[in-house]
Amino acid sequence: MPPSVVVTVSPARWMQGRLRVPGDKSISHRYALVAAIAHGRTALTNFAPGADCRSTLSCLRQLGVEVTEGVSGSVCSSGVLIEGRGVGGLLPASDALDAGNSGTTMRLLSGIVAGHSFASRLIGDASLSRRPMRRVIEPLERMGARIEATDGHPPLAVLGARLHGIAHHPDVPSAQVKSAVILAGLHADGTTSVTEPAATRDHTERALAAFGGRASVSGLTVSVDGHQRLEGRTLVVPGDFSSAAFWLVAAAATPGSRVEIEEVGLNPSRTGLIDVLRRFGARVEVEMSDADGGEPRGTIIVAHDEMRPVRISPEEVPGLIDELPAIAALAAHGGEVTVSGAAELRVKESDRITALVDGMRALGLTADERPDGFSIAAPRRPTGGVAHARSDHRMAMAFAIAALAAEGPSAIDGADAVVISYPGFFETLQGLTAPPARQGAF
Ligand code: S3P
Repeated sequence: MPPSVVVTVSPARWMQGRLRVPGDKSISHRYALVAAIAHGRTALTNFAPGADCRSTLSCLRQLGVEVTEGVSGSVCSSGVLIEGRGVGGLLPASDALDAGNSGTTMRLLSGIVAGHSFASRLIGDASLSRRPMRRVIEPLERMGARIEATDGHPPLAVLGARLHGIAHHPDVPSAQVKSAVILAGLHADGTTSVTEPAATRDHTERALAAFGGRASVSGLTVSVDGHQRLEGRTLVVPGDFSSAAFWLVAAAATPGSRVEIEEVGLNPSRTGLIDVLRRFGARVEVEMSDADGGEPRGTIIVAHDEMRPVRISPEEVPGLIDELPAIAALAAHGGEVTVSGAAELRVKESDRITALVDGMRALGLTADERPDGFSIAAPRRPTGGVAHARSDHRMAMAFAIAALAAEGPSAIDGADAVVISYPGFFETLQGLTAPPARQGAF
């Protein structure tokens, strides 16, 4: 294994600036996957630059899809062209499809290759190889595919088939599971439906509509008819709200701070953090701009004001699951954060409950771990220390934000994990915490 990269984070007096964040990871995966099974060319702007979405593109190339990547202009604007092959038109890959660290790639792509009558092998890195896949294997096998795994974990050997529609009722709320079954449903005879226990992000449903297809939504049930015709599109991916979350939290928690993030995705199934920041006592303004491809976007402005303890209840969790590491960092700045009903955090890129509790303690906070959540507080100013990211991008960023509140410098071990969703995170951090005269544009 290559040595892990250690980045030193110094205490910050404030966080100030106006910026854009890289393209949304969840939406970029879906646009690339749907484009691959659409007819004709799709042009995507502001495609997520992180390693996860690169994994999706390289798997698609292996499945016979022509993908052209080019960087246009600023750090945040990368363009991708995809020549679609139509539903059912992918070609068998000669090697294993490597999803890297990306659960979204592995689960959503499983749904697509399950509907192609050839065999595919899907592999991932050490973290992805520990993540549960039965949640997609079971419905895809019921639809007619055969999938071999090791005790429910990757690698997956998928034997695709002519599928038939099912009505699926997953027991955990998961947009990846919902999306895998919907994408398989596009390749199936009849209608496929998924009824979720709680609403999750709806980017797949919106992406299908953007590409000229249709997913019908009624309450917690989404249904698709098989063999729809999808058409390539020109789309602009909004900034990633989950990446913006780290700056929003830091601004909310640090006196004298204000950040303004433009062109960021504001899909209501993703923005539960806004309400949390208001409960915490921050001033939050949201200005909507025009939606593109059915994905709302706009500017969000967060400024520090008061600091109150926050409690996250189980019903809120699906709407802010990826923001919980950032929310934990609110505690470092004199707050107190309690989360329950979030056992799913244990099966993310790391066991995020244990990783957060250990890392925050290492930085000098007090933290309690429970099976489905945690409480983290800073009764006095944290000392700073060495926090381990455990190869998890969101851990590296959460510890960096918490470290801003410490008395002295801290070290983030494994800081290179940020490349998964936010290459350039540490450079932007430096810019936003610099004295005003040294601040530039991002
Ligand atoms: C995602 C769904 C969520 C989220 C993940 C991205 C998606 O995972 O945590 O980062 O793009 O559909 P689950 O579906 O496992 O909840």
